[in-house]
Amino acid sequence: MRHIRSIYIFCSIVRSVHIGASELPEERELTTNFSSMSLRKVPEDLSPITTTLDLSYNLLFQLQHSDFRSLSKLKALILCHNRIQELDIKTFEFNKELRYLDVSNNRLKRVTWFPLADLRHVDLSFNDFDAVPICVETGNMSQLETLGLSGAKIQKSDFQKIAHLHLNTVFLGLRTLSHYEEGSLPILNTRKLHIVLPVDTNFWVLLQDGIKTSKILEVTNIDLHKSQFTSYGSQQNPILENAKTSILLLNKVDLSWDDLFLIFQLIWHTSVEYFQIQHVTFGGACLETFKYWT
Ligand SMILES: *[C@@H]1O[C@H](CO)[C@@H](O)[C@H](O)[C@H]1NC(C)=O
Ligand SMILES: *[C@@H]1O[C@H](CO)[C@@H](O)[C@H](O)[C@H]1NC(C)=O
Repeated sequence: MRHIRSIYIFCSIVRSVHIGASELPEERELTTNFSSMSLRKVPEDLSPITTTLDLSYNLLFQLQHSDFRSLSKLKALILCHNRIQELDIKTFEFNKELRYLDVSNNRLKRVTWFPLADLRHVDLSFNDFDAVPICVETGNMSQLETLGLSGAKIQKSDFQKIAHLHLNTVFLGLRTLSHYEEGSLPILNTRKLHIVLPVDTNFWVLLQDGIKTSKILEVTNIDLHKSQFTSYGSQQNPILENAKTSILLLNKVDLSWDDLFLIFQLIWHTSVEYFQIQHVTFGGACLETFKYWT
């Protein structure tokens, strides 16, 4: 008996359930945290008043329609860093208040969309999609603010389905990029675009299209030692038309002074007002931050 009691106490501590005291009882927030517990299934005995459920860094590979059914107050569901292969958003049809869904860093190949009225933030970045997982139903979710995406192929027809949405942030977290159709990014209607590049990507095409897409553009993981980029850059007409970006942020960059000169040449006559490079390596020498105001 003593043993059973101590296991129970251990479980409650590990779950680290916090009840935040708010002024009104209906504003109570309950976070249930099962992060990093080697779970293969969603636990069954979840508290029905849970508002935030963290199941990140587990071994989940499949979600059942019944998994979250009882959680009518759920607002945020964090499922990142699991092994989930397929996602049906209808699984959350009883979670009417769900606003935040993070399924990034899984093994997703398929998503079935379902219009959930309150869903504002959906992160599907760093998954194994062949094409960007957008369909006609995604375009119906006019309340979406932040959208994280990935896909080995990016083409205009995918983004056209969400071109009418007014998004705040689009995050493209790419594991691979085998095909990019030029002109795809500018179809997006977003204030901020952040792209994390996989290795061997044509940075120049994405940079130029990115500058035509959003007011704030951030690009992470730029390795300009893959020579094709320099030759592409120097062939291009450096006059960029229809530029929108005023703030350009480059992160984790490995480049030469020639590459930097090409970047300057490209953005010189554009709308870019503020340019920052962070964590940069200039042919072996490291520099923390480089800032430039036009
Ligand atoms: C859950 O716990 C992990 C590890 O302690 C922590 O990193 C994470 O932020 C927690 N999740 C939430 C939603 O508080
Ligand atoms: C989704 O959009 C289509 C066309 O724009 C419309 O006919 C349909 O009723 C919408 N569905 C929902 C559930 O909003």
